[in-house]
Amino acid sequence: MAESTASTSATWATRWTFILAATGSAVGLGNIWKFPFITGEYGGGAFVLVYLLCVAFIGLPILMSEALIGRHARCNPISAMSNLAAESGKTRAWGLVGWMGVLAGFFILSFYSVVAGWALDYTLEIGRGTFNNVASGSTGKMFEDLIGDPKRLMIWHTLFMVITAFIIARGIHKGLESSVRIMMPTLFLLLVVMVVYAVFKTDKFADGLKFLFAFDIEKTFFTYEKVVDGAVTACKWAEAGCDKVFTSKPLIAAMGHAFFTLSLGMGAIMAYGAYMPKQANIASTAITIVFFDTVVALLAGMAIFPIVFANGMEPSSGPGLLFISLPQAFGNMPFGQVFGCLFFFLVTIAALSSAISLIEPAVAYLTQRFSVGRVTATIGFSFLVWFLGIGSVLSFNEWADVKPFFGRTVFDFLDYLTANIMLPLGGMLIAIYAGWALKRSLVLNELALKNLLYFNLWRATSRVIAPVAVFVVFIVTLIQSL
Ligand code: PHE
Ligand code: NA
Repeated sequence: MAESTASTSATWATRWTFILAATGSAVGLGNIWKFPFITGEYGGGAFVLVYLLCVAFIGLPILMSEALIGRHARCNPISAMSNLAAESGKTRAWGLVGWMGVLAGFFILSFYSVVAGWALDYTLEIGRGTFNNVASGSTGKMFEDLIGDPKRLMIWHTLFMVITAFIIARGIHKGLESSVRIMMPTLFLLLVVMVVYAVFKTDKFADGLKFLFAFDIEKTFFTYEKVVDGAVTACKWAEAGCDKVFTSKPLIAAMGHAFFTLSLGMGAIMAYGAYMPKQANIASTAITIVFFDTVVALLAGMAIFPIVFANGMEPSSGPGLLFISLPQAFGNMPFGQVFGCLFFFLVTIAALSSAISLIEPAVAYLTQRFSVGRVTATIGFSFLVWFLGIGSVLSFNEWADVKPFFGRTVFDFLDYLTANIMLPLGGMLIAIYAGWALKRSLVLNELALKNLLYFNLWRATSRVIAPVAVFVVFIVTLIQSL
């Protein structure tokens, strides 16, 4: 049965609805799980600065482009890219960018769902008191127990995909609106509670802030290594034969994360833009979304790092960072069992509203182009995602040592490929498309910026700054990996 929301004529009633949906897409595991752990991995401040610059100068203009393309075309990203290109006298091959987006959404959701499963598991475990009075330093082991158990991971991964599919099949706004309107602000509040906890109950808040915001260029962009028996190994500065080497890894990770966290480069915002009312202002809407997304990420960092330092954990603990740090605090604070359970439940909801946007481009395309029913399209696509997700489940246990993809597990590879390559590439092409391929008058009309200066600023970033920045980072990365 086809849902009315799948048709191109349905537009969301108010500007706020688009903001809520797009914020729901943007705010998710990227902010609360991924941002803190990669910031920890890349040494803090300098990485955060590059990430923030990418958000402002690459992310924001591309977010505007995706919204305007979607709104003007009023259909799924693949057809939108192809149709507007034709309308501007360019090749329909631009539709391929939409295809790559569908593929990226498929890859991302397959591992995203597994991590959302961790949050579901923690909702249950904290809720039933497993972490009450947990001893400092023992949460690491508890996390290892979870990811070491493929059956446990499969149950949650499967449950998360079933819920996601169920909501998409019903049509996005029914499930989505209330969740974003009520639960996102609650999550925001809980994050504030945790920051307050970090301020008053750990004596490491200053250390946490310093880690997040002090630019230690050395820590982020240089590694120390020496060659022992023909193999490169890490070493301490001042050790004999130890070389200081520049590394571009944090650069591509920071840029990639700017795309990932804002849901850019794969058509999610474009798909939602199709439902955006004509009179809504794209620039101010985009700024609002970017603002919320950034604040949530920084709050997560400010809650997590003080707890990390207060308990002698390593900031570079990897993907488990969120799950070993916050439960430590929840287990030892008043009402922690309730707060913790609620927190991970809301993280799951935030993941859900992002997951929906990862599928929407594909489902919108299938329903509009082939008149497949919404339910059929959803079930088919979700099944494939679920199946690929098994690879990520096994990456933490049975297949932990299977690293056929450039020395990476399935999970690490899919994360790297999508966030660091596919999304920036897609975003770069969308920027070029909006800046060069589309007629100036079309864009001028859609953006409806009162001040021509702002329009020119958007155009300069879309035509030159964003594409060149992405290109340069790609080239530097390529050169370094040779
Ligand atoms: N932006 C989401 C997050 O930060 C993830 C996402 C990426 C969603 C790409 C849609 C598209 O969690
Ligand atoms: Na995000």
